[in-house]
Amino acid sequence: MKLLNNNSLIMLFVFLILAFTQVSSLEEEGYSRNDFPTDFVFGSGTSAYQVEGAAEEDGRTSSIWDVFAHAGHSGDATGDVACDQYHKYKEDVKLMVDIGLDAYRFSISWSRLLPSGRGPVNPKGLQYYNNLIDELITHGIQPHATLHHFDLPQVLEDEYGGWLSREIVRDFTAYADTCFKEFGDRVLHWTTINEPNVFALGGYDQGVTPPGRCSPSFGLNCSKGNSSIEPYIAVHNMLLAHASATNLYKKQYQHMQQGTVGISIYTYGATPLTNSTEDKQATVRLNDFFIGWVLHPLVFGDYPETMKTSVGSRLPAFTEDESEQVKGAIDFVGVINYMALYVKDNSSSPKQNLHDFNTDMAVSLTLVGNTSFSNEYANTPWSLQQVLLYIKENYGNPPIYIAENGQMAPHSSSLEDTTRIKYVSSHIEAVLHSIRKGANVRGYFQWSLMDLYEVFGGYNMSYGLYYVDFKDPYLKRYPKLSAHWYSSFLGGTLHHRSHALSSAM
Ligand SMILES: *[C@@H]1O[C@H](CO)[C@@H](O)[C@H](O)[C@H]1NC(C)=O
Ligand SMILES: *[C@@H]1O[C@H](CO)[C@@H](O)[C@H](O)[C@H]1NC(C)=O
Ligand SMILES: *[C@@H]1O[C@H](CO)[C@@H](O)[C@H](O)[C@H]1NC(C)=O
Ligand SMILES: *[C@@H]1O[C@H](CO)[C@@H](O)[C@H](O)[C@H]1NC(C)=O
Ligand SMILES: *[C@@H]1O[C@H](CO)[C@@H](O)[C@H](O)[C@H]1NC(C)=O
Ligand SMILES: *[C@@H]1O[C@H](CO)[C@@H](O)[C@H](O)[C@H]1NC(C)=O
Repeated sequence: MKLLNNNSLIMLFVFLILAFTQVSSLEEEGYSRNDFPTDFVFGSGTSAYQVEGAAEEDGRTSSIWDVFAHAGHSGDATGDVACDQYHKYKEDVKLMVDIGLDAYRFSISWSRLLPSGRGPVNPKGLQYYNNLIDELITHGIQPHATLHHFDLPQVLEDEYGGWLSREIVRDFTAYADTCFKEFGDRVLHWTTINEPNVFALGGYDQGVTPPGRCSPSFGLNCSKGNSSIEPYIAVHNMLLAHASATNLYKKQYQHMQQGTVGISIYTYGATPLTNSTEDKQATVRLNDFFIGWVLHPLVFGDYPETMKTSVGSRLPAFTEDESEQVKGAIDFVGVINYMALYVKDNSSSPKQNLHDFNTDMAVSLTLVGNTSFSNEYANTPWSLQQVLLYIKENYGNPPIYIAENGQMAPHSSSLEDTTRIKYVSSHIEAVLHSIRKGANVRGYFQWSLMDLYEVFGGYNMSYGLYYVDFKDPYLKRYPKLSAHWYSSFLGGTLHHRSHALSSAM
């Protein structure tokens, strides 16, 4: 893309003024930040491998994501340098201050903090996260930390198969313990594992995310794995590891530190393709398989009945003791939502000889709107509202943070990202509607603070409020129009006009 010269900067400014004049004239019927509860937090997010860079610096070892990226799964793109946030964290915190963020969602690189996966702490890694957290706190920005965002230390993958082994529960708990002990005086919001459902499906069913395991005929070209059983085993161990870490926090840290621990879940808004009973039941299955797979055990101590029935013996069972461990091991749910689906029954699929998550779920899915990984997401704010109300109604109205929501666009597209503004503003409005309908939503994190390395598309597709010039050795950041928009919205001066929620609601 062409970077802005001075003339176009002026044009951008004029455009902004026009845009804001236009919306503020609709102030009466619109909404603003002041309509949200006073303690509601607005933030933005990234994850360690996607922004930090410094992959081999100061004692960090490889994660499964480094290995996956170096195997060429994102073209020739890797997170070796990424946005170099490892060296530019002060500058990046300044960017957050410029927008007026209340909070920053980031993740800790396990293999930076514990290069052997367990055992001795890397002092340089410890120093980095202490510095980042202190910089955030100094500037009044709440740190929201995730412990595992697709980046298990490769040594543990090599040693015992990572998430496929029960041994991971011990090592994850010890890693979490280190984080609670070292950072818990300042970090009050912990997410254990980022979207276990998508991590398991991408990593163990289709092989399109780390660690890239799958088996024919489900995944593309994998040399090892078993799509029929491994996704279920991986999620089972993630739930046990999550529960173990959460229970440790509750027992040893929560009374002193007063923080909370949750897990994030990738979700879709889902609407039956037709009003047939079959398609409505198919939609129930979709929600059970996507949301219930992770949340049902944490609220009720076991998997949803629909899953137990259709997956059968391939679904690991919780012992009575494990069921007690997982039940209630959650203070909040992190919701990740971008897209909506039409759901059609496909109950012919369980009759196949080979099974995986998709045949077990027995639905056929179509994205709502003109969405693919080469264009922008369709703007379906009802999707987020539906998920928030679904969790409220089916899972006891737990506190929710929207952990991710945002608009994708080619990296080379304009700094005047008006479709991103439209997408984000209408989803924020959907959050407000959901709160008014009783959903217990505590915060909204736009994805992502800046353009970064994505597992699909490498550096070609971006979600950032800031453009990053990856060709510039200094990796200079430039605010997009959406950064200015978010800043005005968070300043409370911008009354945004209402978007009608789609009738699909
Ligand atoms: C499949 O694997 C083979 C052997 O590793 C490789 O040459 C080929 O490019 C891969 N195909 C795809 C689509 O990844
Ligand atoms: C996957 O595991 C199942 C159950 O153990 C087994 O029946 C099947 O043969 C395995 N498939 C592959 C591709 O290894
Ligand atoms: C399903 O029924 C509702 C209520 O009668 C109606 O509004 C909607 O259009 C119907 N959907 C389809 C796909 O037929
Ligand atoms: C239904 O499931 C079968 C078996 O998995 C699959 O071959 C078929 O393509 C699916 N149909 C649709 C419309 O998705
Ligand atoms: C769908 O998106 C693509 C890529 O942005 C665009 O070329 C195409 O015209 C769109 N189709 C419709 C029906 O909007
Ligand atoms: C990104 O775009 C470049 C140039 O078109 C292409 O070579 C590369 O394969 C793309 N990367 C991904 C991960 O799609």
